[in-house]
Amino acid sequence: MLVMKTASAYRSIVVLTGAGVSAESGVPTFRDENGLWHNHRIEDVATPEAFERNPKLVWEFYSARRRGAFSVRPNEAHRALAAFSRFCETKGLEFTLVTQNVDGLHETAHMQAGAALPLTMHGRLRESRCTRCERVFPDETIYEVGELPQSPCCRKLLRPHIVWFGEMPHFIPEIENKLEGCELFVTIGTSGNVYPAAGFLMQAKRAGATTICLNKERIPQDRYVDQHLEGAATQLVPEFFKCPA
Ligand code: OAD
Repeated sequence: MLVMKTASAYRSIVVLTGAGVSAESGVPTFRDENGLWHNHRIEDVATPEAFERNPKLVWEFYSARRRGAFSVRPNEAHRALAAFSRFCETKGLEFTLVTQNVDGLHETAHMQAGAALPLTMHGRLRESRCTRCERVFPDETIYEVGELPQSPCCRKLLRPHIVWFGEMPHFIPEIENKLEGCELFVTIGTSGNVYPAAGFLMQAKRAGATTICLNKERIPQDRYVDQHLEGAATQLVPEFFKCPA
């Protein structure tokens, strides 16, 4: 089925983004050539067991990611989604942005546009959490190699406020509720490899939504997609999420 409408034709929209939306800002993706998982093993840096075994190595990895992410800016795709989110708020349309990205670029763009913040289901690089009481703190520190930060509350080890493999992503009940009721679901710049996010397309389709995929490549969940738009996020997103005059 060819869907010729743009996003503003729908009254309730859920968008899921992945690393591809930030690629043109200069943030590396995970599974493309030179992606993060080509140079690091997930089991060494992105699981609770890895942190127990070698917290210094894990902090080194996330400090390096902080350094990279804090020096880049939102691109046209982040800005178009932020402007569209604001547009929906003013028109009484329901718009939910769910992101797997931890880089903070959607948040920056949304704050600049005065729009509600996205649901950061895999956590946020700009925050850390106490391993004892689970309190979350704003934290933009880039720690020295070998440094182990302590929480200000319990004086226990701080960990990145990032969802690791084997942990439950954040905001799941809220996201599932939005998926149940949306008319349009759009997935942008994610390879569809990591669940539960990779299952949202099927959930939205089964709930009756129109589904669109904006990506550089085809994804494994192809059969649940009504329309594919293949290309770069900075080209496709501003076009599809144009705010009507
Ligand atoms: P991936 O690296 O797996 O996928 C990025 C997708 O974006 C690929 O399908 C690319 O083809 C596409 N892409 C790259 N550049 C693009 C561009 N300029 N425009 C449009 N599309 C582009 O990243 P994610 O799917 O986000 O989780 O990965 C999902 C999760 O796996 C991450 O949140 C992270 C990772 O392990 C955790 O760390 C828990």
